[in-house]
Amino acid sequence: MGTRDRVLELFEKERGVFLSGEQIAESLSVSRAAVWKSVKGLQAAGYPIEAVRNRGYCLSEKTDILSFQGIRKYLDPICEGLKLQILPCVDSTNTLAREKAAAGAPDGWVIIANGQTGGRGRRGRSFYSPPDTGLYMSLILRPDQYSPGQAVKLTAMAAVAACEAIETLSGQKAMIKWVNDIYLGGRKVCGILTEASFGLEDGFLEYAVLGIGINVSPPEGGFPKEVERIAGPVFEKRQSDGKNRLAAEFLNRFMACYKEPGRSKWAEEYRCLSMVLGRRIGVLLTDGEREATVLDIDSACRLVVRYEDGSTDCLSSGEISIRF
Ligand code: BTN
Repeated sequence: MGTRDRVLELFEKERGVFLSGEQIAESLSVSRAAVWKSVKGLQAAGYPIEAVRNRGYCLSEKTDILSFQGIRKYLDPICEGLKLQILPCVDSTNTLAREKAAAGAPDGWVIIANGQTGGRGRRGRSFYSPPDTGLYMSLILRPDQYSPGQAVKLTAMAAVAACEAIETLSGQKAMIKWVNDIYLGGRKVCGILTEASFGLEDGFLEYAVLGIGINVSPPEGGFPKEVERIAGPVFEKRQSDGKNRLAAEFLNRFMACYKEPGRSKWAEEYRCLSMVLGRRIGVLLTDGEREATVLDIDSACRLVVRYEDGSTDCLSSGEISIRF
């Protein structure tokens, strides 16, 4: 880690506290000039660091700036080994992660961006990804010998982890609209897009890229027309350290399920957190929508539905709409 990153780490640990140049220099064994240069660099990169004569420097307690150091301080030991790459803005973290995975990036490589210019959603849709107010993250996963059926679990684990993280920080109950949209107070606050590559010979998963986008706080100027009736933010106002905490809360929970799937009750949770159980829905088919009632979500996270003609079906993927 370079001096600038180490200075930031110190500031993140002591948010809202003034640290003198001398104190910082001493604790990092660097010169005061190096500290000053690092502070200038961090300020230029957007970190709100106040400099006051005779008091020193202080990273504003209120800032919601995304950083590796800011996320790392909240991570549990289960996340050890993750490689976090934080970027200001990219086309799509999933696209970048897929490129990296295809080039051999290992399990546990995580790309997190502060904004996306070409955020992608399911079924070729775009995902609105303005800078500063959202969290856009993609994980490269290489679990051992996963069949296509098992790969579905990754999305379900992520949905459970996202719901729990959002509930912990917002204090409100987040729920899952099958298969992978997270709703809070009737609004979609998070979407998940899992893309995978399977081996031609053995049919097992080579790698998956798990992409998750969270609307953390209201975007400046509001959500665009196409999504304004559906989308909402997790927090009504920008939070102090909201994005870093949300990223870490998600990673802590997801990694616990992913690394020790047998110990976690994620499949049960996935069912309990569903907002469609017992409800009338429309199942999107290639030739239109078909009305159905949701009977259950089974242990493989499939949606068990009964159509109006009395026939039943188990859906392992697809798109539904909720009838109100
Ligand atoms: C959906 O709602 O249809 C899924 C949205 C998934 C969005 C996330 S944001 C991070 C990652 N990068 C992307 O381009 N998409 C996913």
